[in-house]
Amino acid sequence: MAEFTTVATIDEIPPGERMVVELGRHWVAIFNVDGTYYAIEDVCTHDDGPLAEGELTGCIIECPRHGATFDITNGKVLTAPAIVDVPTYAVRVQGDNIQITSR
Ligand code: FES
Repeated sequence: MAEFTTVATIDEIPPGERMVVELGRHWVAIFNVDGTYYAIEDVCTHDDGPLAEGELTGCIIECPRHGATFDITNGKVLTAPAIVDVPTYAVRVQGDNIQITSR
């Protein structure tokens, strides 16, 4: 069974906002899209761009470095120059806490 770790509170990531947290050796970007949370590795698979600094349109994040896009709901790469999906993390809310699985 996956282990969840509290990484933020719901006050810290209101709808439309995002936050980067450190979990073990990984940087994870957590997004709140209309009250639903999604978490992906904050490292572009093309050349390590900081995805959380990119523009989010719906559930599509655009890497600020060279413009690759990913679906934050499942990590799928949508446009080049990236060709590899970005890892995702399961997210749940327990009380006021946002929790994600570790990798
Ligand atoms: S580092 Fe993200 S597109 Fe190049």
